[in-house]
This record gives sequence, structure tokens and C-alpha cells, in this order.
Amino acid sequence: MTQDELKQAVAEAAVKYILPLLESDTIIGVGTGSTANLFIDELAKHKHDFDGTVASSEASAERLKQHGIPVYDLNSVGNIRVYVDGADESNHHLYLIKGGGAALTREKIVAACSEEFVCIADESKLVDVLGDFPLPIEVIPMARSYVARELVKLGGDPVYREGVVTDNGNCILDVYNMKILDPIKLEAQINSIVGVVTNGLFANRSADVLLLGTQQGVKTLRKA
Ligand code: 5RP
Repeated sequence: MTQDELKQAVAEAAVKYILPLLESDTIIGVGTGSTANLFIDELAKHKHDFDGTVASSEASAERLKQHGIPVYDLNSVGNIRVYVDGADESNHHLYLIKGGGAALTREKIVAACSEEFVCIADESKLVDVLGDFPLPIEVIPMARSYVARELVKLGGDPVYREGVVTDNGNCILDVYNMKILDPIKLEAQINSIVGVVTNGLFANRSADVLLLGTQQGVKTLRKA
């Protein structure tokens, strides 16, 4: 199977996973990226079985609306029953790197508000140690150079993602060459740098379930 076929398989598996959770008042959190897009397309087949969604980006909100799926402002909903999103990397503890699509801050907010976080990814995303994928950091534009210097002190090589403005009007630094041995500690350290909005480590609020597309089928990994 190609990577795209593996992504399609996990998108279908995610819909199958959440079907028993759907009731007329259920709100679903929806992530961002190519895998999340496939999930949205599958979810549309069941759009009459739940209330609506909260989206982690303008792009996902647009795609959901095109399918006729209601998209709510997070401040107007109570509980998000389940959040489904992709990842750039996951380790075996289901700690993630996210933000390849620059949506990390809203993704982290929706994940924090959700009862359950189901991550969907193809097998290329599962790693032993996080950090081969450059760690995205959302930064207030005026603080970009200062934050970059602080990231160098932490051992990383930050690179400005040229031409990208997040949905929140900020910029992205991608940090290369980090071997992330203690994701919870590094997530907190980076977030304490003034000017950082948030970073793409999802360790403090990791995934609860990883649906992993492999050549042997979709595997379900649960948080230990
Ligand atoms: C967007 C993300 C995505 O979940 C991540 O980049 C994975 O994307 P894809 O499903 O296209 O591989 O974090 O900010």
C-alpha cells in the first residue's frame, strides 16, 4: 500500500472507532492536514448522526462546511467528546510532534478540551525518539529572533518558515537537530520562552489512542 492508501485506511478506521460515540448532541474535534482531510471526507457520510464539530484550522473548517457539517466556535460548545487528528511523529508513549501544517496552537487547544484524542497516522510517523521531524514553534512575529537565539541555547537549529502566517497571525520556527529524550520537560521549557505561543510537542496532553496504518492493517496503540 502507498502512504496515501495507509492514510485512507486510518481515516476509515477513525470513523469506525468514533461511530459508537455519536449521539445527536455529540461534538467532534477535527484536526488539520492530509490525513485529517481524509477523515473529514469519511465523517461526512455520517453527518446526520452527531451535532457538529470544532475545527483546529480555517482550512479544516472550510472543508467541513463544504460537506455541510456544522462547525462551532470552541467558546460556544461544552464538551468535545473526541478529537481526531494526524501527527508528524509519534513515539510509543503516544507523545507527538505536530504542526507541520502550522495549525499546532489551535490543535493543542482542541486536544486540551477533548475527552479523548485519537491520532491517525501511517506507519512512517512512528519513531523511537522524537525529533527527526523538525519541531514547529509558533512565535509572536516581533519575538522571532529572540526566540531563535533561546532555542539555539537549548541545542536546536531553528529555521524561519518563510512565507507562512498562522491562522492566529503569527510565524513558525522549525527546530532541527533536536533529539527529544524528555518531551514533557522540553515542551514546558520551550513554552516558557517569552514570545512563544506554543510548540508542537504534544506530551503534556498526548494522544490517548493511535490508529496506525501499516502494511499488515490498521493497528490500535493505546496510551499505557
Ligand atoms: C498540522 C499537523 C498535522 O497533523 C501533521 O502535519 C500531519 O499532517 P499529514 O496528515 O498531512 O501528514 O500537525 O499542523
